[in-house]
Amino acid sequence: MSQVHVTRRYRFCAAHRLHADLLSEEENWAAFGKCNNPNGHGHNYVVLVTIKSGTAQESCSLDQLDGLVNERIIDRFDHVDLNRDPAFAELTTTGENIVKLIWDILEPLLPNGCLQKVGVIETRDNYFEYAGVT
Ligand code: NI
Repeated sequence: MSQVHVTRRYRFCAAHRLHADLLSEEENWAAFGKCNNPNGHGHNYVVLVTIKSGTAQESCSLDQLDGLVNERIIDRFDHVDLNRDPAFAELTTTGENIVKLIWDILEPLLPNGCLQKVGVIETRDNYFEYAGVT
């Protein structure tokens, strides 16, 4: 049976600083370069959420997805310093960790098997994507 997927696009603007407390100043600079600047910097993040496309009687609805993403992702991360979010207390705010966090927030709230992939565009040239543990 063929299965079509649909991807919705969302945006949030947030500040962050790539920094690991366990590393020295020099090690942080070596690992993260200018993204380790103590004053932080911002990105216009784009979040791409892919779900199974279904008919009305199936349970993956775009309205439900929009509501969930706006409430759980955009309201939480838009115009904040990501480093202050409790989820990043012990995690660096890399694109890898952000995309996995968004997956982990949304996946349990959507009908089983609905969520297919989450993508995060951080900069013109950096795109991260996660499709759960396979
Ligand atoms: Ni950055």
